[in-house]
Amino acid sequence: MPDTAVATASRMLLDGDFVDSASGETIPVQNPANRGIFAHVPRAGAEDVDRAVKAAAGAFATWRDVPPRERGRMLLRIADAVEARTEDFARTIATETGNALRTQARPEAALTADIFRYFGGLASELKGETLPLGEHVLSYTRREPIGVVGAIIPWNAPVLLAALKIAPALCTGNTIVLKAAEDAPLGVLMLAGICHEHLPPAVVNVLTGYGEDCGVALSAHPGVRKLSFTGSTEVGKLIMEQAARRVVPVSLELGGKSPSIVFPDANEDWAVDGIVAAMRFTRQSQSCTAGSRLFLHASIFDEFLEKLVGRTSDLELGDPLDESTDMGAIINEKQFRKVCGYVEEGLGRSDARLVMGGMPPDSGPLSEGFFARPTIFADASNDWRLAREEIFGPILVAIRWDDIDDAVRMANDSHYGLAAFVWSRDIGQALRTAHRVEAGWVQVNQGMGQVLGQSYGGVKQSGIGREFSLEGMLDSFTQKKSVTVNLALPAP
Ligand code: NAI
Ligand code: MG
Repeated sequence: MPDTAVATASRMLLDGDFVDSASGETIPVQNPANRGIFAHVPRAGAEDVDRAVKAAAGAFATWRDVPPRERGRMLLRIADAVEARTEDFARTIATETGNALRTQARPEAALTADIFRYFGGLASELKGETLPLGEHVLSYTRREPIGVVGAIIPWNAPVLLAALKIAPALCTGNTIVLKAAEDAPLGVLMLAGICHEHLPPAVVNVLTGYGEDCGVALSAHPGVRKLSFTGSTEVGKLIMEQAARRVVPVSLELGGKSPSIVFPDANEDWAVDGIVAAMRFTRQSQSCTAGSRLFLHASIFDEFLEKLVGRTSDLELGDPLDESTDMGAIINEKQFRKVCGYVEEGLGRSDARLVMGGMPPDSGPLSEGFFARPTIFADASNDWRLAREEIFGPILVAIRWDDIDDAVRMANDSHYGLAAFVWSRDIGQALRTAHRVEAGWVQVNQGMGQVLGQSYGGVKQSGIGREFSLEGMLDSFTQKKSVTVNLALPAP
């Protein structure tokens, strides 16, 4: 697979310049579809973080006073520039993440432009309130920026997630230091390049580095006034501890093990297609919202699964850059081994039945990369590891239910609560169920991706705070100040 579409080296954006790390060390970037190392990026450490945070703090002093509409116009220009390079972004994302170009990488690039456009347009909506305290007093609130935002993102939709931190942070007048994920830094650095062209220096700083040195230093830096993290629940807890030490606000978008509840009247092809989409098979299910626990009513269990196997078998697994590919490769060897471990465990159990898939191909072109097959286990109980832990790979477990109370109880028996899906033609029944499920986002009769304008985020250990919307932006990236003015001074 040729990697010619992407640069072989990139540098970080720090204080308005493209730089190497202070130590000179680098991180290799691997193509998960063929295991080839095709680029290196700087390995940032505490010294780079310190420089970046100080630069962002310096830039904040003037950026905060740029009129919001003007900030918005810059974001709109970034949107246009991203759009003009959609194909470059898409190929870079596909090459570094293993996500298929047609089904994932290109839509991700398009959505990135849309994110900047959406938040650019919201710049005039940073409104405060007035309080009716009487004729002798004027009390009003202002939505003020917080300061330097420290943002840390994962690799599963890297450019889109970078945009979701940068655009709302800047729209509201903050500056930002963003750490890209070590497994997918190149698309994010491309985005940094565009930001650099359209923004004053040091408003956006983008570092590449590992979690344990760059990530820890960023979350612990005293100059960071707000932390925004997307990634695993495990690391999310560490970020929250760091936030607690300095009492800074924190937003966390963490993992999930999202349930799909299928009623008997949804034993139809549209629901099967919806389950395939909800499971995010075309992103190798490396999605926090993946509907990975399938609760099927007993009366349709076998028939529905048969249709699902038929539909899922149609997915073409292969070279992410090939237009005909539906499903690409798992991000790295560690995640690949983790996914294989779950499959092995499932195969070894007598109380679960393999319906399709299994261990990855061990010969032929697919064995050169981290390709996992879509895999379905049936008749699993809700309390084994495969039904409880976030696998972040294409393994679906199907669980039977007879009574909706049991289905809801099992759906809620999880420390996660990010997304959920309910499938029924009876909308009353579907909505009653949607309201009972513990999740930040429930979809009925569809398995789509997040939509701009929707306040997105989880409950329980899936996270805190909402992003993706006007309200989310105001809550997560501004702080309210009240100003109270006495209008009734005595005559001089
Ligand atoms: P991770 O949570 O370790 O990594 C996410 C980001 O956090 C990366 O930029 C990483 O460098 C950084 N990071 C890691 N340790 C850190 C620390 N101590 N302090 C500050 N930053 C730190 O996720 P990873 O290791 O890539 O994947 C492990 C599992 O996490 C996956 O199997 C999946 O279950 C879950 N995950 C969930 C995601 C989601 O969107 N909900 C995204 C990525 C992973
Ligand atoms: Mg990790």
